[in-house]
Amino acid sequence: MKTHNYEKHAAEYAELGFEGTQYLAFRDVPEIIQRNVHGTRVLDYGCGPGRSTRLLKSLGFDVAGVDISRDMLAQALDKDPAGDYRLITSGHIPFEAVTFDLVFSSFVFLEVSTLEEIGSILTEMKRVLKHDGSIVIVTSAPECYKGDWVSISFDFPENEREILSGETMKLLFRGTEVELHDYYWTEDDYAQIFGKVGLQAKETHKPLGHDDDPYEWRDEKDKPAMLIYVLGKKVPARKTPAPRSKGTGSRSATQVRRRTS
Ligand SMILES: C[S@@+](CC[C@H](N)C(=O)[O-])C[C@H]1O[C@@H](n2cnc3c(N)ncnc32)[C@H](O)[C@@H]1O
Repeated sequence: MKTHNYEKHAAEYAELGFEGTQYLAFRDVPEIIQRNVHGTRVLDYGCGPGRSTRLLKSLGFDVAGVDISRDMLAQALDKDPAGDYRLITSGHIPFEAVTFDLVFSSFVFLEVSTLEEIGSILTEMKRVLKHDGSIVIVTSAPECYKGDWVSISFDFPENEREILSGETMKLLFRGTEVELHDYYWTEDDYAQIFGKVGLQAKETHKPLGHDDDPYEWRDEKDKPAMLIYVLGKKVPARKTPAPRSKGTGSRSATQVRRRTS
C-alpha cells in the first residue's frame, strides 16, 4: 500500500519544522547523539526534504542524505543546494562499508510495508556503519494512534479498531493537507528484527512533554507519541577459556605431551 502522496505533498511536507508533537522527538536528539556518537561522518537515511539532514548539519556533522523520492530530494536540494543528497532504491546505500559514525533515520520505517524490508535496510545501514558507530532510529511510538496530540491527528473512523502489527493507521498533520497511512510496528517487531540482523539496542527513549516546552501539550505529557532507538553492532560473546585440569601445571589435559627422549 502507498503510505503517502509525496508527488502532491512534498512541498507542503518540506515546510514542516520540528513543530508540535514531533518537537518531542527532535528536542532530545542532539543530547542523545552527543552521548553516543564520537565522529563526524553521518548518513541521513530517508532524508526526505532534508529537515533532519539540516538539523544534523547544524550540530556540526558532515552529512549525506539518501531517499527513494525524487520529489522529496528536490525539496532538500532547493533548501540546501550545496548538500549531498542522493536518490536510491530501498535498502541500497551508495557508500563503502564502514564509512559512517552515525546512521540516522527519522520517520522512515513507518513507511516500509514489511519487516523483511526493514531488516534489509538495517543490514545495509550496519554495513556502512563504523564498528563503534551508532544507528539512531526515530519513529512513532506504538501507543501513538490512541492519543490526542497537539499536531498529529489519528481521529479517523478507520483507526477505531485494535491495529495489528503490519497494518496501517491513518493520520493527518493538523493545519495541513498532509495525510499519511503509517505502518504499525510494535516494539517486539523492532526487537526481533534488530536481533536478527546483528544489532543491539543501546538505548530506547520515549520522550514526554515537559512543562517548560513551548507548547500547551494535550496527551504528550502522559503518553509517549515518539520512540527513539540507539543501536550498535552486536558484540559477539567472548568464549570462556576451558577450565584447567588439576595437577598438570600450566598444561591442559588435552595438550600433547612432548617427548623428552
Ligand atoms: C516522513 S518522511 C521523513 C523525512 C525526514 N527523515 C524527516 O524526518 O523529516 C519519510 C521519508 O522516507 C522516505 N522513504 C520511505 N521509504 C523509504 C525507503 N524504503 N528507503 C529510503 N527512504 C524511504 C520517503 O520517501 C520520505 O522522504
